[in-house]
Amino acid sequence: MKKTDIIILAAGKGTRMQSRLPKVLHKLAGQPLLSHVLTAAKTVNNAKSVVVTGFGADQVESTIANAADVFVAQPEQLGTAHAVQCALPHIRENAKVLILYGDVPLIAPETIANMLETVTSDQMGLLTVTLDDPTGYGRIIRDADNNISAIVEQKDASPEQLQVSEVNTGVMALDSEQLMRWLPQIDNKNAQGEYYLTDLIAIARAASVTVKSIQPKSPEEVEGVNNRVQLSQLERAHQRENAQKLMESGTSLADPERFDQRGDLNVGTDNFIDVNCIFEGTVKLGSNVTIGPNCQIINSAIGDGVEIKANTIIEDSVVGDNAVLGPFARLRPGTELADNTKIGNFVETKKAKVGKGSKINHLSYVGDAELGEGVNVGAGTITCNYDGANKFKTIIGNNSFVGSNSTLVAPVKVSDNSFVGAGSTITKDTEENSLAIARAKQRNIEGWKRPTKKG
Ligand code: UD1
Ligand code: MG
Repeated sequence: MKKTDIIILAAGKGTRMQSRLPKVLHKLAGQPLLSHVLTAAKTVNNAKSVVVTGFGADQVESTIANAADVFVAQPEQLGTAHAVQCALPHIRENAKVLILYGDVPLIAPETIANMLETVTSDQMGLLTVTLDDPTGYGRIIRDADNNISAIVEQKDASPEQLQVSEVNTGVMALDSEQLMRWLPQIDNKNAQGEYYLTDLIAIARAASVTVKSIQPKSPEEVEGVNNRVQLSQLERAHQRENAQKLMESGTSLADPERFDQRGDLNVGTDNFIDVNCIFEGTVKLGSNVTIGPNCQIINSAIGDGVEIKANTIIEDSVVGDNAVLGPFARLRPGTELADNTKIGNFVETKKAKVGKGSKINHLSYVGDAELGEGVNVGAGTITCNYDGANKFKTIIGNNSFVGSNSTLVAPVKVSDNSFVGAGSTITKDTEENSLAIARAKQRNIEGWKRPTKKG
């Protein structure tokens, strides 16, 4: 296939977003709108992406950075044809040019491929869609032979043309030579005083070039974002599709309307995901995983048969097979749990390696720690890893038992098979096969009298 230059128009301010942020940087599924378009553009082989910026150009460029090949500024927004004109110096000779929009985020790679493959180099391709309510869009005008002859913008259309329900999506493909030859012929003599890219259609017709229309698989693919209501609607449409794919691949969702995937989710089969779970970044789930309601999983890998109970947060962590987590557990970055581990309610872990079968069941903080196999950490145990300046490590050996409400002042080691008495403050390494106890001795005071109320 010919090399492809993809121009993405992203200069508009997006006044109706009521925002200081350029419209194309508003997020859908956790990513800027423009990033979605660039991701779709990247699926085209031998492609070069040229992004036309305007409002907030510096911010757009620094946020998107190397996801695009070239950024070009359109100093004033004089219309879509003018925006494309600004990109022309970066267009290669003998290339196919595809025009996309930074605020139309859900364009599918399949639709782009279909367009580039079916439109021959002596034709021009136009993506059109038929809408129940075509208000605001450019209408597709066809001749007696049903060939496309022009696009008429809403503001320039006659009452008869306004009845047409087939509309221009704005997405088009044509040869770079044609674009370079035709673009200078476009003027701004229309209702909006703008240079309309859509005038290319009538010019192509005058040059006897066939305009071939292609339709997307779903109308959401070509819907633009103009305000926050539309943004939320597209977000849901996108999430519904994610949910559908997940269910088709063998995962059950309690409610596909309450599921959010903001990144890549790689799953086995027979998983169950309850309502309001959010998956961010790159997440891998094994098979037979059960996830309770309101969990957030970020950039983590979860093994087979894991049970994650309600309100658990897992970030940059690895969880072994058959682990049981939560409810209300928080795994912070660098947590690595081996198989059959248990992290219970109100337990926070950070940079913690936990060996096979070990349990931290209640109300604990375990950070900068390495736990062996078969360890039991009692309720309320804290690894004191920080002296206000530096962090230190706690090591807990195989099969040891840390009694409730103990503080382990790092750097410190609880040796294999040792037992720490409840309420101890451990500041020295413990000995293998022995009990370490570090708490004030209890005294029972006989005959002691309870205070009584005065007066
Ligand atoms: C455009 C089409 C219309 C189509 C509709 C689909 C034209 C003349 N009209 O109309 O036929 O039905 O899209 O949504 O093309 N932009 C720039 N620089 C400019 C002007 C626009 O970068 O000078 C960008 C905008 O940021 C936006 C896109 O181009 O992303 C479309 O511009 P917009 O003003 O929204 O065009 P519409 O009137 O919606
Ligand atoms: Mg628009």
